[in-house]
Amino acid sequence: MDLTIRPATADDLDAVNAIYNHYVATSTCTFQLDPDTAEERRAWFDGRSAAHPVTVAVAGGEVIGWAALSAWKARCAYARSAEASVYVRHDRHRRGVGRALLLDLLDRARAAGLHTVIGGACSEHPASLALQEAVGFERVAHFREVGHKFGRWLDVVYMQLVL
Ligand SMILES: CC(C)(COP(=O)(O)OP(=O)(O)OC[C@H]1O[C@@H](n2cnc3c(N)ncnc32)[C@H](O)[C@@H]1OP(=O)(O)O)[C@@H](O)C(=O)NCCC(=O)NCCS
Repeated sequence: MDLTIRPATADDLDAVNAIYNHYVATSTCTFQLDPDTAEERRAWFDGRSAAHPVTVAVAGGEVIGWAALSAWKARCAYARSAEASVYVRHDRHRRGVGRALLLDLLDRARAAGLHTVIGGACSEHPASLALQEAVGFERVAHFREVGHKFGRWLDVVYMQLVL
């Protein structure tokens, strides 16, 4: 596959939202319950800092995945810790896109002077946990029944990589 990873632009946001909103509606991999509107996605994009980029994976001229670094917590002493998100379009899994997005994101995190990256994942999603373990994250926490979606309680596993 001819895959390019690059910083996202505003023109990519409809594709980013379509990839994400599929999981909002169908999956516990995100704890969001209602889809993001185009306006909400634009506000999210416009509010980012240099240390918190959004990237997209492009193949055949289409955006087929995206990744982002976000502030992990708001207090200033957490400034060099970030949370990683990676979403690959549901029909393009297991082709190396998620790994390419996450490795690129970690390079950007190092370049931005971040010290550690955290990944949170619902415990019932082995793909997310396995992807993070594959690039060096370790399990550091397991929170029980902290989310509720589709009528059931959900556990969250936190993964961490010290850069
Ligand atoms: C998690 C996700 C990003 C993985 O993306 P992907 O492009 O399918 O993953 P890759 O093909 O790059 O896989 C890289 C490695 O991750 C692991 N992995 C990925 N999917 C897996 C699965 N379904 N089961 C077990 N391991 C898996 C494997 O170690 C894999 O390496 P391998 O193919 O050499 O065995 C994708 O499944 C996804 O978008 N899921 C929904 C959103 C989500 O859960 N995001 C994470 C929360 S932020």
